[in-house]
Amino acid sequence: MPDTPQTTHHSRTARRTLVAAAGALAAGALLISGLGGSAGAAGTSLKTLAEADSRYFGTALTQSNLSDSTLTAVASAQFDMVTPGNEMKWDTTEPSNGTFNFAPGDQIVSYAKANGMRVRGHNLVWHSQLPSWVSSLPTGQVQAAMETHITTEATHYKGQVYSWDVVNEPFNDDGTLRQDAFYTAMGSGYIADALRTAHAADPAAKLYLNDYNIEGENAKSDALYSLVSSLKSQGVPIDGIGLESHFILGQVPSTMKANMQRFTALGLNVAVTELDDRIQLPASSANVTQQAADYTTVVNDCLAVSGCVGVSQWGVGDADSWIPGFFSGYGSATMYDANYQPKPAYYAAVAALGGSTPTPTPTPTPTPTPTPTPTPTPTPTPTGGSSAGCKVVDAVNAWNTGLTENITLTNTGTSTVNGWSLGFTLPSGQSLVSAWNATVSPSSGTVTATNLSYNGTLAPGASTTIGFQASHTGNAAAPAAFTLNGTTCSLG
Ligand code: XIL
Repeated sequence: MPDTPQTTHHSRTARRTLVAAAGALAAGALLISGLGGSAGAAGTSLKTLAEADSRYFGTALTQSNLSDSTLTAVASAQFDMVTPGNEMKWDTTEPSNGTFNFAPGDQIVSYAKANGMRVRGHNLVWHSQLPSWVSSLPTGQVQAAMETHITTEATHYKGQVYSWDVVNEPFNDDGTLRQDAFYTAMGSGYIADALRTAHAADPAAKLYLNDYNIEGENAKSDALYSLVSSLKSQGVPIDGIGLESHFILGQVPSTMKANMQRFTALGLNVAVTELDDRIQLPASSANVTQQAADYTTVVNDCLAVSGCVGVSQWGVGDADSWIPGFFSGYGSATMYDANYQPKPAYYAAVAALGGSTPTPTPTPTPTPTPTPTPTPTPTPTPTGGSSAGCKVVDAVNAWNTGLTENITLTNTGTSTVNGWSLGFTLPSGQSLVSAWNATVSPSSGTVTATNLSYNGTLAPGASTTIGFQASHTGNAAAPAAFTLNGTTCSLG
């Protein structure tokens, strides 16, 4: 996969259109089987799974995100690292020369602490979101202003941040250094100076250079590689490289793992710092499935590199993602949909981390549920035999063109079920994409889910959870009824 240059980040074409699309999916016969891995219990979070691999799974949060309880419910349940989206940038922290404002950043830090999350400080020096007073300074005053800014901010947050993106986005895509106020005043030496200044203020913080389009091997990452090789050989304090990872669907570079490895071979850590994977709207089911594959690749690449310390997504879900506002016509770039329901990319990340059959994060968003059916009174058992009975709890999480459904099946009868078939009818327009913990076929209409080898036995009172992903054309309802080996189940 070529390292296709991505559109520059900073073309601000605001557009927030959510297009509901009728994605037609020619899903053939379907498959099946678990999300793999044994490390995760049902519903295990991204953070728990990442921690089991000595890594973190992070998100960006802005101050306004903190008052969205749906968003923060997902953030605190799933992520253990927070990057302030804007609150530690120069335009917020030192809007005029010598006037500092750490209140917004402090709020993010408090939220993180209250929820057991660490913080990636972001960022100390960047050409963007830089107040004009800095770029208007006579060149002879820029170094002192930069050092004062770094020292004051890194001292304020000393002991409270895991890491700092000390210099953000210093390179152009051709591998030359960006001709910003810092380069213009100090030449390439500003980077070493910034790192040394940050280290003096907070010696325990891991110090990073962070950039985009450096995820694969290309002219830009080659230039970064030579710069950091030289910084390391001079003893400049640098601990890691942040790969922003603002991907375009299907364009995760095939050289990402090798690229991370060459940086870790220098004795550096690497981190995926701002992951998203933007889709040209409207997003089709095939797009959303490709996005899951992209997330799998990124998580697997990080897990394969021992110096890759974690993955952070830029935002919690599609509703708070920066993508629609910055990349006209694109969106659907994260693991959670506009209602903070998990998308296939979420399940893919869980699976890549070794989790299995995740249960979607409960959120306060009302999920349309089928009208409760009165529980049928158990038919009296005719003779001294045993009675068959079952209960189904079905949780649907839908986005514009797709859905996932987790079905918990309980044996409410008095005898053990040895091998089961669960029959149900997919509402019209729904077509299976994949399934877990059961074989499900055919892919639409009246389907049968059959147990796998490990979940065929259900003692009285025992439950098992299966699930599937399907596309839909507007009707994301759950099946109206289920039968277990021919017996109608109650819906719970
Ligand atoms: C973005 C924020 O998400 C937006 O809210 C802001 O308007 C612009 O910056 N690379 C970075 C991040 O390092 O700081 C940027 O964040 C996204 C690109």
